[in-house]
Amino acid sequence: MAIIVSGTPGTGKTTFAKKLAKENGLEYIDVNKIIEEHGLSEGLDKDRDAKIIDVKRLNKVLIEIIKKDNDIVIDSHLSHYLSKKYVDVCYITKCSLKELKRRLEERGYSKEKVRENLDAEILDVCRIEAEEEGHKVKIIYTD
Ligand SMILES: Nc1ncnc2c1ncn2[C@@H]1O[C@H](COP(=O)(O)OP(=O)(O)O)[C@@H](O)[C@H]1O
Ligand SMILES: [Mg+2]
Repeated sequence: MAIIVSGTPGTGKTTFAKKLAKENGLEYIDVNKIIEEHGLSEGLDKDRDAKIIDVKRLNKVLIEIIKKDNDIVIDSHLSHYLSKKYVDVCYITKCSLKELKRRLEERGYSKEKVRENLDAEILDVCRIEAEEEGHKVKIIYTD
């Protein structure tokens, strides 16, 4: 079973994905680690203080992983760009804006980065993109 967990940064993907993997005997896949290991980061977007990731290359690597071991939980706000044919369920984590702001400030994110992520949550970007891809979407509220 290939499960993906997406959602705005800070909404609880990693916490949920690790728990889900543990409870169901699935392997937890940390996409940040995969990006490092495969050199998928193409530098830093200074304006956004975020890594520039080639999603096409990332998808290729993730598909290889899924083909090798299908019992996995993939944790990433980029995971919903995977084609639905490789994915059984797509969980989207969400939380209230007040709680998200608190969590992101606690992380030490800049004012701009907090704003960008709050906007992404307000616009429901991950959920809408996941649904557009055709994933079977399940929403998880984490506050
Ligand atoms: N269900 C939850 N209840 C309370 N706090 C949570 C919950 N899920 C996550 N958190 C907290 O929110 C913060 C962000 O969670 P994290 O899993 O790292 O999010 P993400 O991986 O989406 O960035 C962490 O401090 C975590 O402890
Ligand atoms: Mg995380």
